[in-house]
Amino acid sequence: MSKVAVVYWSGTGNTEMMAQKVAEGAKEAGAEVSVFTATEFNSQMMDDYDAVAFGCPSMGAEELEEDEFEPMFSSCESKLSGKKIALFGSYGWGDGEWMDTWTQTCKDDGANLACDSVICNEEPDEEAQESCMNLGRALA
Ligand SMILES: Cc1cc2nc3c(=O)[nH]c(=O)nc-3n(C[C@H](O)[C@H](O)[C@H](O)COP(=O)(O)O)c2cc1C
Repeated sequence: MSKVAVVYWSGTGNTEMMAQKVAEGAKEAGAEVSVFTATEFNSQMMDDYDAVAFGCPSMGAEELEEDEFEPMFSSCESKLSGKKIALFGSYGWGDGEWMDTWTQTCKDDGANLACDSVICNEEPDEEAQESCMNLGRALA
């Protein structure tokens, strides 16, 4: 059984809702799933999982959340080469630039992206929730 970690940061709950759907999709597809907030996860834990979903909303000016998520994610970057991962997150008024930048960073790190990154405007609607389920399935 493949082991999947879902690691997220969420200020107002939108990305958290996405994380729950990612976990649901991965479980449904047969994976053993663990869900962590950014402060509960670290780079050493990367080795314990076959695949990792990272979720973070657009914060700052089209950036990852800088206090908790970005430092944790930066420390995991050295473990991304060849690793099966997928990215998701919610945004507000922007055009998804933060996710394009983040996805490119992961490609540059040599990550094996299991599917297209999933973004949604504010609270995930039914379609976005389904996309999150599919992201989870792709990682399982
Ligand atoms: C401090 C702050 C900065 C933000 N910066 C952006 C931004 O640059 N671009 C954007 O599209 N949305 C931005 N947003 C909106 C959030 O990404 C959006 O509300 C998202 O749904 C929050 O997700 P969460 O509920 O998981 O925290 C920002 C929100 C906050 C509070």
